[in-house]
Amino acid sequence: MTSTNKKGRDAFASGLGAFAATLGSAIGLGNIWKFPFLTGSNGGAAFVLAYLLSVVLVGLPVLVAEHLIGRKMRLDAVHAYGAVVPKQGIWAAIGWAGLLSAFLIMAFYTDVAGWVFAYVFKSAVAAFGGKALGAGTFSSLAGGTWEPLAWQAGVLAMTSAIIALGVSRGIEKATKALMPLLLILLVICDIRALTLPGAFAGVDYLFKPDLSKITGSVLIAALGLSFFKLSLGMGTMTTYGSYLPDGTRIAPNAVRVALADTIVSLLAGLAIFPAVFAFGGQPAGGPGLLFNTIPLIFSRMPGGAFFTTIFFVLASVATIGAMVSLIEVPVAWMVEKGRVKRPVAACLTGTAMFALGTLATLSQSAVLGSVRLFGKGFFDLFDFVSSNVLLPIGALAIAVVAGWLLGRKPFEAELRKGHAAQPWHTKVILAFLRFVAPVLILVILLNGFGIIRL
Ligand code: PHE
Repeated sequence: MTSTNKKGRDAFASGLGAFAATLGSAIGLGNIWKFPFLTGSNGGAAFVLAYLLSVVLVGLPVLVAEHLIGRKMRLDAVHAYGAVVPKQGIWAAIGWAGLLSAFLIMAFYTDVAGWVFAYVFKSAVAAFGGKALGAGTFSSLAGGTWEPLAWQAGVLAMTSAIIALGVSRGIEKATKALMPLLLILLVICDIRALTLPGAFAGVDYLFKPDLSKITGSVLIAALGLSFFKLSLGMGTMTTYGSYLPDGTRIAPNAVRVALADTIVSLLAGLAIFPAVFAFGGQPAGGPGLLFNTIPLIFSRMPGGAFFTTIFFVLASVATIGAMVSLIEVPVAWMVEKGRVKRPVAACLTGTAMFALGTLATLSQSAVLGSVRLFGKGFFDLFDFVSSNVLLPIGALAIAVVAGWLLGRKPFEAELRKGHAAQPWHTKVILAFLRFVAPVLILVILLNGFGIIRL
């Protein structure tokens, strides 16, 4: 956020600033951790196909809608949705549900981010000792108690401090500089993984869909991932939209963000699955897939422990950008009316997130490992409820507000603000927001929860 606009709110500086900031929120653990992990536990290429279709048919239009509503209202998510349709304050519910999602996501996201930071440290220590990471590193870290909690607390303290001090601008710069490096390192991983004997089974696994694998729960998981990936359905992109300058071309920016984000996920998949097959591992390796596979790939290269460290350093940077955008949703809401100062809001939010996060983290250990709600431990439950329930419902409501209730004229005026967009852009985007996205979301949700049978 580099300048202050008329109302005294923060604003992203330029078109490139808007792209980098939005991408900074989108790229994170979703690409390198969740995409491979879900692909592996949902049977491979059929899931990837459903995910890609979901990004194009549903994710992209909703991303445009969120940026558009955010910029039009220049408010945080709760206030924006409460005021966007005249006399229908009820839509503020989208913002409230978004706050809940932000807390649920951060609860498990900071646990995983803690593992990433721990891996920086552990692989650096191993590199100095001239060794590779031991095989049991992940299970003893994630299944521990104090160790993962300490990393999680550290991650949350750092992210809250970044928000409190208002230095997200510095983070954006760091992200902009380091993101290309992450891309290069992923490509190096890809080359190493793809040249291992037996690697091509992994490419088939990722890209040769077996359509019989598509079930109701695979479709919901793919839909949920497309929202999680692009930070949609919960107000993050609405909030970031409120910082976009008037001249930003919302639709082309959204296309570029979705494209870049998807490329990063596919590159991560192209490193992990070939390696999993080459090493005779299990694609359905669960949340540990990234952490167990990446060090193995690098161990087959000179300087492996060093590269592993760099990989996790870059992954932590990407993670910070996403976490900052998650915390920003409640913080922007608290500071909007000037009742709470930013540092106070950041501390309160960070502390509450840690309280909830403790449950997620300890559900991986013996302490809360046997506690089940709706058949799931807290970590899985928070993930499931946010991605597979709250984000799709939020996105559905956003599509309805933007497509049906906002009105064609105001929609078009905002979309074309500051530049002359092609008139057909409005037509196409509105058609997606009115029909394609709501119908798909509704059908996938109802089918996934067994209310209708396709
Ligand atoms: N998009 C981020 C990722 O894929 C996660 C995120 C979800 C960020 C929702 C903000 C809001 O890692």
